[in-house]
Amino acid sequence: QRELGKTLPLTGKKILVTAGPTYEAIDPVRFIGNHSSGKMGFAIADRLAALGAQVTLIAGPTAQKATSPNITRIDVTSANEMLNACLTAFQDTDACVMSAAVADYTPVEVASQKIKKQDASLNIGLKKTTDILKTLGELKRTNQILIGFALETENEEQYAVDKLNKKNLDLIILNSLNDSGAGFKGDTNKITMIDRQLNKSVFELKSKIEVAADISDKLIELLSH
Ligand code: CTP
Ligand code: CA
Repeated sequence: QRELGKTLPLTGKKILVTAGPTYEAIDPVRFIGNHSSGKMGFAIADRLAALGAQVTLIAGPTAQKATSPNITRIDVTSANEMLNACLTAFQDTDACVMSAAVADYTPVEVASQKIKKQDASLNIGLKKTTDILKTLGELKRTNQILIGFALETENEEQYAVDKLNKKNLDLIILNSLNDSGAGFKGDTNKITMIDRQLNKSVFELKSKIEVAADISDKLIELLSH
């Protein structure tokens, strides 16, 4: 099996993948979350592992299961926990694919007891989370490949290119919510890939497993330069 492993395109490569949502606690029983299923990130981790990579999969709360022995799974809950897990893993990686739907805001304070209902309205103060991808973009060495996602509903390509530049990425994967069948919960996705040279590849609506294969092929190409 080892002999066989040597022939795979990603043998010897260490790749960090993030997947799923994050949950930001409001009190001991409530949180702010999102509808990310984790399917896209787990499909990417599976595919990269099948291609021979050693994958560290940092997952927010999700029902997905990773089965490959090439995947080391680290479960986290909040954006801050995901940040810390990513910072620990990052140094040692050749590439990162950040597909998690990280919360942009988190409560300023977490109530230590369950918040009792009282007035007609309740305001919860929120503060920005640290942008994990941008942080890794600042730490990136020249031989590391960084891939991010962009979820957009308008000015899609412009916003995606803005993120590519602002976060110092090698590739951005635009996930269009305007295309039916694409998005958080389903088994399909429709993506456009844009690299640093602004080469653009538009893909058909496909299963997330097939999309994971397309992303992995592009990553192999980026690693070979
Ligand atoms: N991301 C991250 N850390 C955050 C927020 C986002 O690492 N705190 C990453 C996501 O994993 C994704 C990319 O940044 O790969 C883009 O996420 P997206 O929500 O589309 O963009 P934002 O930069 O958060 O901007 P906005 O939500 O305002 O469009
Ligand atoms: Ca966001």
